Amino acid sequence: MITIDNVKKDYLDGDIVVHALRGVSMDILPGEFLSIAGPSGSGKTTLLNLIGCIDNIDGGEISIDGEALAGRGRKELVEIRRHKIGFVFQSFNLIPVLSAFENVAIVLEMLELPRAEIREKTLSLLHEVGLKGLEDRRPAQLSGGQQQRVAVARALVKDPLIVLADEPTANLDSGTGEALLKLMKRINQDRGTTFIFSTHDPMVMDYAGRLCRLHDGEIESDEKRSA
Ligand SMILES: Nc1ncnc2c1ncn2[C@@H]1O[C@H](COP(=O)(O)OP(=O)(O)O)[C@@H](O)[C@H]1O
Ligand SMILES: [Mg+2]
Repeated sequence: MITIDNVKKDYLDGDIVVHALRGVSMDILPGEFLSIAGPSGSGKTTLLNLIGCIDNIDGGEISIDGEALAGRGRKELVEIRRHKIGFVFQSFNLIPVLSAFENVAIVLEMLELPRAEIREKTLSLLHEVGLKGLEDRRPAQLSGGQQQRVAVARALVKDPLIVLADEPTANLDSGTGEALLKLMKRINQDRGTTFIFSTHDPMVMDYAGRLCRLHDGEIESDEKRSA
C-alpha cells in the first residue's frame, strides 16, 4: 500500500549539502506495525515527513494507496495528507488554548462533518484512548502521557489509513511510553490502521512487528519480528 522506491532527500546547511536520505526503498503493507529505528541524524524524521506529505521528495518515488507523491505541489500533498494520514509528534503539538475535546474535534470541523457526528466521534475516541472524564482539560492540565493520548486520538479521529509517529515516546518516562505503545498496538490490531513510528529506544522497538534500521540515510536492516 505504501511503496518507497530509491527515495533521496538533501538539505542545504549553509552551503554544505546534507544527504539525509540516500536511496531508501521499502514496501509497507496495510496493517503493519513498523518501527523506523536509528540514531539521531540517521534520517528518521526526514523519511516520515516524506511519507506524510509534509515535505517534497528530491529523487525516487513514494506512492501511498496508489497515489504517487513526487513532483506534486503543496496543495495536492496537503489533500493527500488530510485524507489518508494522521500524525503524532514527539512534542505532542497540541493547541494549548483548546481542551482535549477541542484538540480532537477541530480535525473533524475542518472536514466539515455535522456537529453531532463530531461530538460522538471525538468522545468515543477520547474514551478509547483512556481519557474519559478529562475531555475538558487543556494540555497544561494533563500529564505528558495523557497529552500524547490526546495526540493519538487526534491522529485517529478521521480514520486514516496510516498513522505516522515521530519518536512518540521521546518525551515520556519509560512506563508511560510503554503504555502508549500498548495503546497504539491495540488500535493497530483492532482497526487495522497501519502504524509507522520512529524511535531510538530499544523498548519501543520491541513492540514492532517489523523493524527497519536507518543509518546515515540508508537502510541498514529490515526484518519482520514476532511481536
Ligand atoms: N531542515 C534541515 N536543514 C538542514 N539539515 C537538515 C534539516 N533537517 C534534517 N537535516 C539533516 O538531515 C539529516 C537527517 O535528519 P533527520 O531526518 O532529522 O534525522 P533523525 O530524525 O533520524 O534524527 C541530519 O544530518 C540532519 O542534520
Ligand atoms: Mg528525528
